[in-house]
Amino acid sequence: MDVTLRRVRPRDRDTFMAWFRDPSLTRWHGDPGPSECDAEFQRIVGSRYNFVVEAGGAPVGHVAVECDWDNATSAELGILVEPGNQCRGIGQIALAQAIDFAFEEAGATRLWAGVVSSNAAALRLCKRVGLAEEKRVPAAEREDGHWIDHVCFSVLPEEWRQIEPVRKT
Ligand SMILES: CC(C)(COP(=O)(O)OP(=O)(O)OC[C@H]1O[C@@H](n2cnc3c(N)ncnc32)[C@H](O)[C@@H]1OP(=O)(O)O)[C@@H](O)C(=O)NCCC(=O)NCCS
Repeated sequence: MDVTLRRVRPRDRDTFMAWFRDPSLTRWHGDPGPSECDAEFQRIVGSRYNFVVEAGGAPVGHVAVECDWDNATSAELGILVEPGNQCRGIGQIALAQAIDFAFEEAGATRLWAGVVSSNAAALRLCKRVGLAEEKRVPAAEREDGHWIDHVCFSVLPEEWRQIEPVRKT
């Protein structure tokens, strides 16, 4: 599958607004709220570290490598793939490409992702790409009447270089 990352453009606004309003995505990503959507999109469009994920030339998701790059090099990975395109292998390719970018071009020294244990897709994605479970906080949060864990996955540049290359295109 032809999966690529590209910079976010102003004309992606409507696409991002739809993602900001989709409860199946905001459930995991947090909801910027109606009054914050514009500011959040402006932040994203002005960032060198946020990308649109394209599959077959169409936007299908968003991946980000976030930190205060002026003062830190341990960055948080974030990803979404829109519901109609999930489970097609897009997330794993896009995340691997973002990790390559973060280590090879952005100068990251550690990458991490925080996942709640109820997010089966994100847990599987992190493991599939080769991130290691660094820390688990049991029963960190209550969700729908159940206790869930907070899981932190991470990878260092030297570990990433040793991971069997995952499919990136
Ligand atoms: C997490 C997410 C980005 C995965 O994207 P995707 O394109 O569907 O992922 P892939 O198709 O590359 O699948 C990656 C792995 O996850 C598994 N997976 C995908 N969706 C799954 C689901 N709903 N339940 C369980 N496993 C799932 C796949 O089987 C695959 O594992 P495998 O190759 O070992 O079988 C996508 O589900 C999403 O956008 N979710 C909402 C936002 C979110 O949770 N982001 C992460 C916040 S930390």
